[in-house]
Parts: sequence; C-alpha cells; structure tokens
Amino acid sequence: MELKLNSLLIHGGVDGDETTGAVNVPIYQTSTYKQDGLGQTRGGWEYSRTGNPTRAALEKLIAALENGKYGLAFASGLAAINTVLSLFKSGDKLIVSDNIYGGTFRILNNVFKDFGLEYIIVDTSDIAKVKAVLDDDKEGNIKAVYIESPANPLLTITDIEAVTKIAKASGRLTIVDNTFMTPYLQRPLDLGADIVVHSGTKYLGGHSDVVSGFAIVNDDEIAKRLYYLQNAIGGVLGPWDSFLMIRGIKTLGVRMDRHQENALKLAKWLLDSGYVDKVYYPGLESDPGYEIQKKQAKGFGAMISFVLKKEYDYKTFFKSLKLITLAESLGGVESLVCHPASMTHAAIPKEIREEVGITDELIRFSVGIEDAEDLKADVEQAILASKKGA
Ligand SMILES: Cc1ncc(COP(=O)(O)O)c(C=O)c1O
Repeated sequence: MELKLNSLLIHGGVDGDETTGAVNVPIYQTSTYKQDGLGQTRGGWEYSRTGNPTRAALEKLIAALENGKYGLAFASGLAAINTVLSLFKSGDKLIVSDNIYGGTFRILNNVFKDFGLEYIIVDTSDIAKVKAVLDDDKEGNIKAVYIESPANPLLTITDIEAVTKIAKASGRLTIVDNTFMTPYLQRPLDLGADIVVHSGTKYLGGHSDVVSGFAIVNDDEIAKRLYYLQNAIGGVLGPWDSFLMIRGIKTLGVRMDRHQENALKLAKWLLDSGYVDKVYYPGLESDPGYEIQKKQAKGFGAMISFVLKKEYDYKTFFKSLKLITLAESLGGVESLVCHPASMTHAAIPKEIREEVGITDELIRFSVGIEDAEDLKADVEQAILASKKGA
C-alpha cells in the first residue's frame, strides 16, 4: 500500500518487530553477531559499523521519507557531509552556496582543502552566477554544486530544480542540505538533486537530545560508493540514537506544522514591530525567495534571522531573554536563539561573513512549538530591555 507522508513518518521503513510483534523497532545494542560457520551469518549481520538492524530500520525510513532508494545514517550531520565529500578526489572542485552552516565551511576550508578538494563560493540563489561559473570551468574540474536552501543563517532560497538542471546538463552532481526543511516540507531528490544530506540533530530528531546525520540517494553507483565510505570511514549512528531518531521522526509532521505557524506569526510581528532593521524569513511575501520557496516546498520552515535597529544592543537582548534559550543548534521543540557570528558561523572568516551579510548584529531564531504569544512577549521584553542608554 502506497502511504502518504504523515503515515510514512509512523509506518515507513521497518514497521515494528516481526519476531515479537513489538510496535517499535528494538534497540539492537550489539557490536557484533554470531556466525554459524565461516562466512555463515544470520541475515548478513557481521559487525555494527557495517550494519545494525536498528540503524537499518532508520535508514529505510529516511530513504522512504525523502523518496530515495537508499538512506544512510551517521553519527552527526558533519559525519554525513564528510562521507559525501569523500566521494571526490584531489583536483576536484565544488560550488558551494555563499551562506552555509559554518561547520560545512570549516570542513571544506580546513580539512578537505588540504587534500586538494577545492571550493568556489557562489550566490546560488542567482542561477546566472552558477551557470557562469560552470561555463567558465573549461577543464571540467567542478564536479558538484552544494546547496543549502533555505541557507543557514540568512534563509536564502536557491531554485533547486534550476540548479540541478544546469548541473546535470554538464554531468555535475547536485548535493542539497535539507536540514532546515526536512522531507516533510521539501524533497530535493524529486526536484532532481543527486544527494540529500541532513543534520538529523535538528527537526528530524526534534527534541535536542540526539546528534545524527543522513545521506539519501537514488543512484545505485553513488549509493554503492557511499555505503563503502560509510563503513570505511566509520562515522555511523549507534543503535540507541537510531531508535531515538525513529521515535522523533514519528511526530515530525505535527511538530513542523506548529513550528511554521509560530514562525510566520513571529516573523510578521517582528517585521511590523518597529524594532528591527531586517527580517529574513522566506514565508514573508516581501522576501526575495518567497515565490521560489512556494514553488519548491510545502512550507517555509521555522528559522528566522533578524537584525535589531541600532538603538538596541544585541548582546543585552540575548542576556535579557527569559523563556527562549541562547544556544547552538536549532529545530528542537523549544525555541533557541543564537549569534551566528560568534557561534554557529565563527569558523567563517569575518571578511567572508560580512560580505554575505552574516554581520555581528545578526540574530538567528529557531522558533519552537511553545505558545506564540509567550514567544512574542519574551522577544519584546528582551528588545525593550536592550535599548541603549535605558
Ligand atoms: C544546515 C546544517 N547542516 C549541517 C549541520 C551539521 O550537523 P551536526 O551538527 O549534526 O553535525 C548543521 C548544524 O548546525 C546545520 O545547521
């Protein structure tokens, strides 16, 4: 039976336990498996880095949710990204979106660059710019375009279908970090992308209690190489965390609905409040990404960034919040704020940050599922408390 998305969240992948009828997938807390004779495994299970039934159930689930053939689960989003980047070789180049998660920039700039994998930063929301860089690459060294949409932290929207079209036309791959949207709102493989990556730590887990990551693909050859790399590099998700991820994913739909409802209320209120110079949220009709987001996703997500007017002090604002927590990360049921310049994006040199708009004044807000009125009240009292000279 073909299931719709809300049913897939609960019944997708491996549904319960065949042996006992337990409605939840058991936690196979084991590192290894008995072999009945040389080469005689029971169902192919050999060693839990290579494969574990709890992780395998989660991997089937994430593949089903992203409408992909293959899903792979990792110990963090960056472990997934590390494994995907390991598909490339010295001398290869990647195009990357100009505002991406700081850790993704860090692994490209401080790890893979030393192995000869280069990157070119491009504003991927401007398709003409992507095309120009690809056309310019006469030697064919650019092997892939790496997109975040909406991007972290400026929520810039890239037309995924348009990028995949021009990348595919010249034999390049498109990789999409779908962390901010989740498959509930956006399915990049359906838009033509080749590889989807996730920090599962965020909305997929949803409760700020697990660090995890995913890669999802359709292509048999890419999948074969990724499975090889997953085992060879070894950054796999453990059985207990795999269980927690399956549990978290069951409520993804209801959580995302509430997250988005709250985020839209907060973004609209901030925009009209008179307290801010700028609000970044693709769900605002005035946002440059609004139309594309409406076309390629089922919603706008729940990440907002904003800049307070000069008369307010952002440091005092962070200190004055009472309900909303100042912390790294996002996508949990509780609202979190962060200061990208010194926290999530500190690994990006200041000149690059300032050039793309990740200024010291930027505030990132992961809108949780609390009552929107309480969130609004907390933000407002913190802004008022932050008035300079008050
Ligand atoms: C968009 C995005 N991708 C990837 C990552 C990395 O994920 P993890 O922290 O699970 O390694 C993050 C973390 O904040 C992120 O925001």
